[in-house]
Parts: sequence; C-alpha cells; structure tokens
Amino acid sequence: MVEPILEVGRLVKHYPLTRGILFKKQVGAVKAVDGVDFTLHKGETLGIVGESGCGKSTVAKMLVNLERPTEGSIKYKGEDITKLSGKALKSVRRNIQMVFQDPYTSLNPRMTVGDIIGEPYDIHPEVAPKGDRRKKVQDLLDVVGLNPEYINRYPHQFSGGQRQRIGIARGLALRPEVIVADEPVSALDVSVQAQVINLLDRLQSEFELSYLFIAHDLSIVRHISDRVGVMYLGRIVEIGRDAEIYDHPTHPYTQALLSAVPVPDPEAREHRERIILAGDVPSPTNVPSGCRFRTRCWKAQERCALEVPELAVPAEFRLVSGPAAHDSACHFAEEKQVVPPEATR
Ligand SMILES: Nc1ncnc2c1ncn2[C@@H]1O[C@H](COP(=O)(O)OP(=O)(O)OP(=O)(O)O)[C@@H](O)[C@H]1O
Ligand SMILES: [Mg+2]
Repeated sequence: MVEPILEVGRLVKHYPLTRGILFKKQVGAVKAVDGVDFTLHKGETLGIVGESGCGKSTVAKMLVNLERPTEGSIKYKGEDITKLSGKALKSVRRNIQMVFQDPYTSLNPRMTVGDIIGEPYDIHPEVAPKGDRRKKVQDLLDVVGLNPEYINRYPHQFSGGQRQRIGIARGLALRPEVIVADEPVSALDVSVQAQVINLLDRLQSEFELSYLFIAHDLSIVRHISDRVGVMYLGRIVEIGRDAEIYDHPTHPYTQALLSAVPVPDPEAREHRERIILAGDVPSPTNVPSGCRFRTRCWKAQERCALEVPELAVPAEFRLVSGPAAHDSACHFAEEKQVVPPEATR
C-alpha cells in the first residue's frame, strides 16, 4: 500500500471572472481549487470531504481530464499527465475513470444499458473487439449485481441504486486502476447507499482498484476510506489515516465538522461539544489572506492573516509521527477530541 499511483502537487483551477458582454474584461477569478496536494496509493481509498463549493468536483474533473488545471501537476505512476497529449494521454485516461454523483442525469436516456456501458469501447476498441462487446457488457452487468438479460433496457427502467450500478459498470469497462467517485451515493436513498458502498468495496478487492472517494459528509467516508482529506475553500486543510482524523483531529475546521456528525449513541451525544462556526464560507472569488479559515476560526491570531499555513509540517514540529502521522494546515494545530472515539464508527 506504499506505492503511489496518483500524486497531486499544488493543483490549481481558477475560473476567470469577467464583466461586460461585448468586450469581456477579466475582473477577478473564482479560485475553485487553490493549491491541493495529496497522494493516492495503490489499492487504497482516499476520502475527500468538504462542504458544497469547496472544490471537490473540480479536483475530480482535473484528474479525469474533464478540466485543465491552471497550475500544478498530476502524476500517474510518476508521469505528469497534465503535460501529455494524443496517444499517451489517451492511454493514461483509460486507467483513471470517474463515477458520477447523479445516476439520473449522467446516463443518456436514449441509449440502452448495453450501449451506455459499452460506449468507452468506441474510444478504446483494443480493449473489446466488436464481436466480444456484448459478452463483455453482460459480464460487467453481472459483476455489479444486475441481470445480464437487462442489456437492452433503458435507464428509466431501473431504480436509482441500479442506475448507479450501471454507472459503475461503465466506469469499470476499460479495466481502470483508479476510480474517482464523486459523491457516488449522495443522490440515493439511505437504504440503498450502503448497498452501493458495499459493491464498491467488493469491486476494489476484486479488481485491485484505488479509489478517490468524494463526499460531503464525514460519516459516509469513514466506512470506506483508509485515509481522509478535509477540504476548505479550495485547499486540503487536514489529511491522514482515518482513525487519526476521526479520533484525533488537529485542524479547527475538521474539529468543527466532526462536532456536527450525527452520533447515534445518546450518551456520547451528551458528552460531545458542538462547535458552531462564526459566519459563512467566504466566496472563492475573495479568499482571505494567510489562513483561509481564519475568518471563522476561534483560534485565529495576527499570524494567521499573514502566513499561509502549509499542510506538510517539518517532522520536528509534528504532533504525531510514525505511522499515525497526519498533516494539518494550521499554525496552532493541536489535538482536540470532539466526539468520543467509537461514536462515529
Ligand atoms: N465552470 C465554472 N466556472 C466558474 N466557476 C465554477 C465553475 N465550476 C465550478 N465553479 C465554482 O468553483 C467552486 C467549486 O465548485 P465545485 O463544483 O468543485 O465544488 P464541490 O465541492 O464539488 O461542491 P458540491 O459539494 O456542491 O458538489 C464553486 O464556487 C463553483 O461555483
Ligand atoms: Mg461537487
């Protein structure tokens, strides 16, 4: 699990903000992603969580080449894919596939399930020669727990959970190594969420997949992630092994998010501290200087407005080292137990 498969460095996506209809003038930028670093290791699941608008989907889109980064690098097995084009890019893209949030809008209603799942073979015919396709698609249906006889049906003939299975089958068609799942269960009923998560879990071991699993909610990623990264306003503010993040969070934002996670056990609920943050998330067109979280942070001091806290701290300043190490982009990072351990499990 130590071999990196994706290394994201200083990734930035700024959308120009323009004014005027005829003569467009750039008046600023939406800093959707503003310097994101993380490594995804072979076979692991890295969960990325954060509130709406913090840049999660934009990161996902850059990883699968649906958006071009403004700056930064995305290395796949050591090679920077943002610099590739043509054949080389096509072959890398095959290995990094995306599963989308909304199975209602991401499947073309006029195509049969067989055509939807088999469509990636049009771009990569080498994976499935024409004569093999039907069989391949039926195998994929079977793998995701759908009846292979449904191959000629249309998306509207399936339930939400089944549609997400179709989306997953399509994501698997080219036998990728990495799956970027952008809130794959958010649009589904709670009762169906667990089934789809279990399916993803099983497919991971069956096909030796590495997952980047995006979610709003810390409670969903806990069950599937080996590590978790917390995003705030275009950056990762804390990242580490899941037990570290849940039981020993050191960034005030993570602590606040955890304090809002529903806790089923009434006793644990009673003993926890609810952290209510001041104000709203600032606009990504107007990011605070220094630490971007400082405008809502109860610990903020002058230094926080002047110096950007880096995510990776030098080893001598680490609060925890060794296998439990995790990084926190805060000048005043310290452990604070928000929810008694076990309560979020
Ligand atoms: N094409 C675009 N042009 C301008 N701004 C954009 C564009 N796409 C996204 N944004 C802005 O970038 C920011 C990040 O958007 P993104 O969709 O990545 O957030 P998210 O974390 O996925 O949110 P959600 O949880 O709601 O899906 C938002 O402020 C969004 O409005
Ligand atoms: Mg999103």
